[in-house]
Amino acid sequence: MLEYPKFLVKSIFPTKVWPHPVIGLQPERLYWYMDALWQRRDLSGAVVEIGCHRGGTAATAFSMLKRTGHLKRYVCIDTFSGFVTSQFDRDQEHGTPSASRRFFTDNSEGIVRRLLNHYGCEEIELIPGDIASIDEALLPEAISVCLLDVDLDVPTYDGLKRVYPRLAEGGMILVDDCPEKTTWAGARPAYRRFCDELDLPVRFEMGMGIVERPRGISSRRTRIDGISSGPETRPA
Ligand SMILES: C[S@@+](CC[C@H](N)C(=O)[O-])C[C@H]1O[C@@H](n2cnc3c(N)ncnc32)[C@H](O)[C@@H]1O
Repeated sequence: MLEYPKFLVKSIFPTKVWPHPVIGLQPERLYWYMDALWQRRDLSGAVVEIGCHRGGTAATAFSMLKRTGHLKRYVCIDTFSGFVTSQFDRDQEHGTPSASRRFFTDNSEGIVRRLLNHYGCEEIELIPGDIASIDEALLPEAISVCLLDVDLDVPTYDGLKRVYPRLAEGGMILVDDCPEKTTWAGARPAYRRFCDELDLPVRFEMGMGIVERPRGISSRRTRIDGISSGPETRPA
């Protein structure tokens, strides 16, 4: 059960409760994400954040790009109501504590929209849905940088499968919650499984799993479980 009186106050007065962006990333990971965006500021393709919670990181990252003259499409995908029950059940088998089950539930698309507008980020697009089952036509055709921050095995793995084929040459996906030791036990094995299946290098930076599409490797050719796109080496 949601604590309704508290949720009501948050729903009616979100900008009073969170007058400034609340960033959900650890500082060193925020640095890495911002640097990934900066290094790819001239790369075409949208920035996608899967798992944006209340939009604190999105507002901060988008504002950096906008303030420095590198305005890009910034798309946030979230259930806006926390975890999908069956996906959390799977992570309990990995060892994620059941106390985390109800994290992020006191949220809504409306709250995040109002917060982002208040932070001066009206241009950020919000897509509500489960990344594992969302209509793929809603995802941007080309993605330059993706922060995948959904904490659990299933949406991390499915998110990678859906984003990677759209990743621009030189693009990067950063998967949060992948240190060796964490209570979020599912993201790291999901990242490793995806890399192993596609024979991609496994690389961890600041506790995040990194997926890159090197320049010279075009997207939209490999089939990943029925998704008809992916890497193809281009002649020089
Ligand atoms: C750790 S929070 C994200 C924090 C955010 N990136 C930030 O830095 O402020 C995780 C988010 O993932 C979302 N989420 C969990 N499972 C999801 C799924 N299957 N599809 C989409 N979003 C999901 C939750 O609703 C929650 O808002």
